[in-house]
Amino acid sequence: MIRFKAARKRFADGTVAVDDLTLEIPAGQFCVFLGASGAGKSSVLKLVNGMVQPTSGRVEFDGIEVVPRTYREIRPRIAMVHQQFNLVLRSTILRNVLAGALPGTSTTAAMLSLFPAELQQKACRLLERVGLSEKHLYRRAAHLSGGQQQRVAIARAFILDPTLVLADEPVASLDPEISRGILQLLRDASRESGTTVMCSLHQPDLAREFADRIVGLARGKVIFDGLPDQLDEEMIGRIYAGARAARETAEDDGPVALGALTASEAV
Ligand SMILES: Nc1ncnc2c1ncn2[C@@H]1O[C@H](COP(=O)(O)OP(=O)(O)O)[C@@H](O)[C@H]1O
Ligand SMILES: [Mg+2]
Repeated sequence: MIRFKAARKRFADGTVAVDDLTLEIPAGQFCVFLGASGAGKSSVLKLVNGMVQPTSGRVEFDGIEVVPRTYREIRPRIAMVHQQFNLVLRSTILRNVLAGALPGTSTTAAMLSLFPAELQQKACRLLERVGLSEKHLYRRAAHLSGGQQQRVAIARAFILDPTLVLADEPVASLDPEISRGILQLLRDASRESGTTVMCSLHQPDLAREFADRIVGLARGKVIFDGLPDQLDEEMIGRIYAGARAARETAEDDGPVALGALTASEAV
């Protein structure tokens, strides 16, 4: 369970990236954060692993407050999937997946790239799971297409059985059909393992197709929180209308459908 309590992030230049965020994400949920560029999606995700620290309010990961002294406990349980895949391009696919296990490997073993056979088998299983068969294991990541690289990144993300995957616009640089395949994989992998996923997207159609729940952000504020079916065209317009819509919604109506999901409905 991830919990935000009145979390706020104001950067030094005065930009309020996250404004009074109060939200609970139950274990196992595939929660999509939808919003235009600059809405605060990345900042919300980074609050959970401490890459962004709240100016005020509180963020909890499984009941543990996310603060510098707890990073060591929390971070190994969180995996990330990035827009630009972030693979080591000159390394092989297998080594890229194994790199996901470095937080759980002793420093000496990691320096020598000695990974237990069990872990190597797991990496192979994960690669197969994302559709990359044995013949790809020793290919360099640089030789893969964008969609294949993101498959490797998903396999890497799951190698330590994370409690949470933070996927920050994982399909922003992929074409629509490839994007659907990647989101399908991410959702299926999370369902199979009970992993919670916080995924930011800027495409409403993909959010509606894959999310258990959609949180719409505008100017750092939640202006929608509900089921994919509840996200209508008018609300999409408001999510993308920017500053004015965000302010009006916050002042007039409050979030729409807030609290529509309970933990039991959501998973
Ligand atoms: N390190 C930073 N310093 C100052 N402003 C930032 C920083 N990171 C993000 N911002 C600003 O915070 C707002 C939210 O950014 P971000 O969370 O990256 O949104 P999104 O991921 O939805 O595009 C934007 O106005 C952005 O310019
Ligand atoms: Mg972003």
